[in-house]
Amino acid sequence: MPEKIHHLSASIPRRHELPDRRARPLRDLRISVMDRCNFRCPYCMPEDKYHEHFKFLDSAERLSFDEILRVARLFAGLGVSKIRITGGEPLLRPGLTDLIGDLSRIEGVDDIALTTNGILLGQHAAALRAAGLNRVTVSLDSLDDDVFAQMSGGRGNKDRVLDGIAEAIQAGLMPIKVNTVIKRGVNDCCATALVDHFRGSGVIVRFIEYMDVGTINHWQASDTVASAELAQTIGERWPMVPVESNYHGEVASRYRFVDGQGEVGFISSVSAPFCGSCTRVRLSSDGRLFTCLFAATGTDLKGPLRGGSDDEALREIIKAVWSGREDRYSEIRAEQGGTGDKVEMYYIGG
Ligand code: GTP
Ligand code: 5AD
Ligand code: SF4
Ligand code: SF4
Repeated sequence: MPEKIHHLSASIPRRHELPDRRARPLRDLRISVMDRCNFRCPYCMPEDKYHEHFKFLDSAERLSFDEILRVARLFAGLGVSKIRITGGEPLLRPGLTDLIGDLSRIEGVDDIALTTNGILLGQHAAALRAAGLNRVTVSLDSLDDDVFAQMSGGRGNKDRVLDGIAEAIQAGLMPIKVNTVIKRGVNDCCATALVDHFRGSGVIVRFIEYMDVGTINHWQASDTVASAELAQTIGERWPMVPVESNYHGEVASRYRFVDGQGEVGFISSVSAPFCGSCTRVRLSSDGRLFTCLFAATGTDLKGPLRGGSDDEALREIIKAVWSGREDRYSEIRAEQGGTGDKVEMYYIGG
């Protein structure tokens, strides 16, 4: 059963800038609403570890919608204007549309986006839009059925993802972005086919350099295809020119096709880190705050939330976490050797 949302009456504090130790303001809140996923992408949730007996969170361990809303309101009061809903697979969370409706009514939040693998998107797109979702980003690693299966751990199928994208277009969840992680020797061959398919459709394909998130994907530097290499291949076939970012801190570098058939993006966290403008904080589905995608530990908010802390006390925890933040993992990846404990991506979202 979807959860019932009680409308909270907490007043919204005045918005202000909250710089971290590197003078980066807090702008984006990424909320993972579900640690489970119906895919088993080997680079994220390899089947041998996330098998049928793997113990995911119980629903009582996940933040309730009321708790998520309360945290989101506090963040909005501290400068957050962008919210992204992630997973695992967020559309597995029952009643997600209700949550999105309430998040969209938070003062100061002007952009709510969802990252999904697209399998359940077709059936939810219209309701999500009606509830107040602004846009959607769909992960799609290949249009070739065999390669798709290799990248998704044999789950789902690309036709259903494409149907989901078509429904999202129909619903007006624009601009729709497609995120493609490129792993050398697996799906690098499929990049141009994706560009070819979506050119001229208004859907923006963005290629993500495969990263060493988490500890279980056995990442090696040689698995990553640098964006410059990919951009050259694509540019040789369809000439393109760089364009300005849409906003300060946008993670993707944008290129426009000179023939007017749209644009393509490159997210180069390995070859060209963007920590200097990172304004993102991540909330896991069990209520921990992470200030970096590569963090080892987070700060528990669920305990204080359930232990009766008032808004002021919660706000102080959040402020202390953000103002003490120094993260810049991607900039110092080489020095760190990419080792050490790191949280898994399915648990805090991408
Ligand atoms: P827009 O708001 O549409 O610009 O989205 P976005 O690019 O901020 O978010 P999205 O979830 O689409 O990000 C795409 C991918 O970029 C993620 O799945 C990650 O792989 C990567 N990414 C996003 N944020 C970060 C970050 O803070 N650090 C690193 N290293 N990678 C990130
Ligand atoms: N490197 C780069 N991107 C990744 N994603 C998941 N794991 C990785 C990784 N190791 C991507 C997914 C999805 C987004 C949420 O993050 O493919 O597009
Ligand atoms: Fe699921 Fe996304 Fe992880 Fe794939 S990358 S297993 S779709 S959460
Ligand atoms: Fe932000 Fe950490 Fe990614 Fe750098 S590595 S951009 S600090 S999340």
